[in-house]
Amino acid sequence: MSGFFFVAWPVLAWALAILGGLYRYFTLRYTYSSLSSQMLAPGSLYWGSVPWHYGVVPILIAHLLAGVFPRAAAAAVSPPTALLVLETAGLALGLLSLVGLVILFARRLGPALRRVTSGMDWVVLLVLLVQVVTGVAIALFVRWGARWYPYTAAPWFWSIARLAPDPSRVAVLPTLAQIHFMSGFLVIALFPFTRLVHLVPFPITYLWRPYQVVSWLGRRGRGRAGP
Ligand code: HEM
Repeated sequence: MSGFFFVAWPVLAWALAILGGLYRYFTLRYTYSSLSSQMLAPGSLYWGSVPWHYGVVPILIAHLLAGVFPRAAAAAVSPPTALLVLETAGLALGLLSLVGLVILFARRLGPALRRVTSGMDWVVLLVLLVQVVTGVAIALFVRWGARWYPYTAAPWFWSIARLAPDPSRVAVLPTLAQIHFMSGFLVIALFPFTRLVHLVPFPITYLWRPYQVVSWLGRRGRGRAGP
């Protein structure tokens, strides 16, 4: 079983993400985004989206940096104070992203949004929920992730990148961590088939582009404009 999950699954997930992403880009380019639901429920979008993105983006950057530069990551957390500060910050960000995700989930249960929510939207929300809950649970119960990640997950990632996956270092980790890793690759595999594709064009221009103004046309909403 671990042969499939730690050897074949990560390669398959990357293949699906890259090939599916290229196919969608060249055949359905104008769908390469995340359809906005801002007009339908602007308040809950704000309270869900902001904590979710502010929490999860730094966490993913930390995952990436520690995977690409494991020696520097291990050195950075070798002083106990640095480890404690980093783990506490990680846990706070994990909880922030969890709060945001629960709000994003709950708002789609309302009648206005349920109608425009696809099956894949629900799949993405559920998988992300599993991902964040298991991530926070690792931080709480499989201590200290920042210390063991550079010696377990990072070499495994590099072996996958060399197309010679070596699962020996991750196969010995607790089941909770293994579930987090497997569903992490599910997130990658789902990328091109869901609204998660909006991350690929890397929407960094959001930081300096002009503010988006959503205004209502028609009698009921005339004169109403929301941010
Ligand atoms: C296979 C890829 C992944 C690996 C090997 C991995 C590994 C880890 C580890 C070891 C931790 C615990 C960190 C600590 O205790 O300091 C963690 C936490 C976390 N991960 Fe992942 N992860 C992966 C993918 C993802 C993805 C794709 C997401 C989100 C979309 C994610 C979200 C989180 C969150 C929210 C936390 C909690 C942060 C914290 O409390 O420190 N992870 N992950």
